[in-house]
Amino acid sequence: MKNKITLQQMKETDDKITMITAYDYPTAKLAEQAGIDMILVGDSLGMVVLGYDSTIQVTVEDMIHHGKAVTRGASDTFVVVDLPFMSYHISLEDSMRNAKEIFQQTNAQAIKIEGASPEILQFITKLTDAGIPVVAHIGLTPQSVNVLGGFRVQGKDQASIDKLIKDAKALEASGAIGIVLECIPKEVAQLITSQLTIPTIGIGAGINCDGQVIVSHDILKYGVDRLPKFVRSYQNFNEVIPQAIGQYISEVKQGTFPNASESYFLSPELRTALNL
Ligand code: KIV
Ligand code: NA
Repeated sequence: MKNKITLQQMKETDDKITMITAYDYPTAKLAEQAGIDMILVGDSLGMVVLGYDSTIQVTVEDMIHHGKAVTRGASDTFVVVDLPFMSYHISLEDSMRNAKEIFQQTNAQAIKIEGASPEILQFITKLTDAGIPVVAHIGLTPQSVNVLGGFRVQGKDQASIDKLIKDAKALEASGAIGIVLECIPKEVAQLITSQLTIPTIGIGAGINCDGQVIVSHDILKYGVDRLPKFVRSYQNFNEVIPQAIGQYISEVKQGTFPNASESYFLSPELRTALNL
């Protein structure tokens, strides 16, 4: 699962594309082992791993640092790395340089950017021309949370539905290899998916997308407190991890850890010589 042709074929054959976020080596390795189709090194990094309250403080250096760990852990999986806040809005030249650094240093298969303004469309064309595949992202675009007025469902009136469809088509025409649709009504995602030849990957966008993406910490309940309505959790590490660490604490306090089989010993001769 290493190229855009495979993704395209998956859309054509109705084989759902599975994508999950990862931000480190072990998660990437385990996701690949589980058979995931694509990994996203999302800038959700800022919220679920770095403890910020939005994605806005994430830097190019952060994305490179974590992106490198992920591609080392999942060398046979299609890895997409997010371009973080304001790293592609100052000038086209500056944006190209940041994209180059992230793509080249992380050794990922594609990058992802939010939005569909004329500048973004031009940027996607230029990246594609340079050999950098781009995944687009519309609907709720978290880097614009302060402009959108909060984390809320997008595409709920005729004008914004029309705009989403128009944007999706323009992104495809600009060269995007796929589009993430975040937090939009199921019917709108279905409309978009049926009108595009490139795959749509939904999060909070219903069942009719060509694939689904989810934040790993959300489906594992790993250090996250509030979960959006669209998340289904398959584990609860919020309980499992404190239980395991709590058991370690109590066994150290009780003096039952470490036991003999968890300890190293001198040879019997040396023990005798030392009078032990
Ligand atoms: O950063 C992220 O995790 C994302 C997904 C929610 C699509 O962009
Ligand atoms: Na993101």
